[in-house]
Amino acid sequence: FSDIEVNDKGHLVIGGADAVELAEEYGTPLYVIDEMRIRENYRRLHRAFSRNYSDFQVFYACKANTNLAVMRILEEEGSGIDAVSPGEIYIALMAGFDPERILYTGNNVRDDELQFALEAGVRINIDSRSQLLRLAEMAPEGLEVSFRVNPLVGAGHHEHCITGGEMSKFGIMESEAPEVYSLALDLGLKPVGIHAHIGSGILDPEPFMLAVESLMDIAGRVHGETGIEFEFIDFGGGLGIPYTPDEEPLDIDEFASRITGLFKDKLSDYGLGRPVMCLEPGRYIVGDASYLLTRVNTVKESYRKFAGVDAGFNTLLRPAMYGSYHHILVADRPLAGPSGKIDIAGNVCESGDLFARDRPMSEVNEGDILAIMNAGAYSFSMASQYNSRPRPAEVLVRDGDAEVVRRRETFADLLAGQVVPARLLKR
Ligand code: LLP
Repeated sequence: FSDIEVNDKGHLVIGGADAVELAEEYGTPLYVIDEMRIRENYRRLHRAFSRNYSDFQVFYACKANTNLAVMRILEEEGSGIDAVSPGEIYIALMAGFDPERILYTGNNVRDDELQFALEAGVRINIDSRSQLLRLAEMAPEGLEVSFRVNPLVGAGHHEHCITGGEMSKFGIMESEAPEVYSLALDLGLKPVGIHAHIGSGILDPEPFMLAVESLMDIAGRVHGETGIEFEFIDFGGGLGIPYTPDEEPLDIDEFASRITGLFKDKLSDYGLGRPVMCLEPGRYIVGDASYLLTRVNTVKESYRKFAGVDAGFNTLLRPAMYGSYHHILVADRPLAGPSGKIDIAGNVCESGDLFARDRPMSEVNEGDILAIMNAGAYSFSMASQYNSRPRPAEVLVRDGDAEVVRRRETFADLLAGQVVPARLLKR
């Protein structure tokens, strides 16, 4: 993490703002989102692909981070949205995305959810034969659809994050693809796209190459057997980012040229014309753009040495859920070298609530602000009110200015929506 920035007080700087001062001003725990980092990530990826293949479109996977300001930034950049639920469709519409630029890839979707997507006018990416049959009942003649196919390739940073291959619940089988596409035609729909998403948090280009090859072969077979002309081919998301200091980032230019090279070869092998090539990155765009700031409130030496902080897995679930590594800096002196090992524990009443075990850290004192890095993707979006802790605030920083883009929840938010039956009211 060579780009860690420090000011003349020796404090960590995020988007031009002093992290310790942000924590003072807005309280902790606090998510700090760096606007320019999001834009840079988007532009780097977009440029790398579009210079090899100009008909290229990003569908930002908003499950990573649905903050409205983040969504607005990506709408301004020209992104589309990968939405997986009616709620995500709703947020994307509220953020001003054109429904044509929203691709709804649901899993185990209800009829009323399909109806909602139809009324919203978004594109529907079908996950199963059952979904196809139900959609055909309610869809207008000629509705443009696409299918998610399982390309029998899967990869991911954790078993839970592999979404292709024989164990995966997602998509239609590759062997049934031609038959399902022709069934869609028979049912009066117009299939125009094909999609796969093999998993998340992948830093190795090889599984992507295999997936591109497999999906293109499937597209070729579908085209050959049904005559369908694809308007878009979507390879999903999954591009990883380094979480540990020794991981290397993807070389995006080399990655893009390999993927687009293979894509173009396969287009001409199968006479597939010139469909739009789509990717659905989430983590790559927002992952390293946020920090979670949390204050050390307890340093305890029991059987082990603990630094106890005021965030927990309710605020950032990834370490507890996947054993994920998040690098942690002492925001007051981020460049200080390690002086020993310590466990960094959250404030939730569960022993699994640890941000780090045996982590080499510089001296950590009560009152210090810790900055948990790479907290932009699957962090706030997976936060909960567990232990009845209101969820934290989010601030957006740019050129040293900070703005609250989500207020801190209050105790009243813990009760929102609850109704006590009259007979149980305290008299
Ligand atoms: N497209 C589809 C259909 C997806 O299901 C996903 C992620 C993406 C795109 C974006 O993947 P990305 O580029 O962000 O890797 N909670 C986990 C990650 C789950 C990802 C689920 N699907 C984590 O914290 O690592």
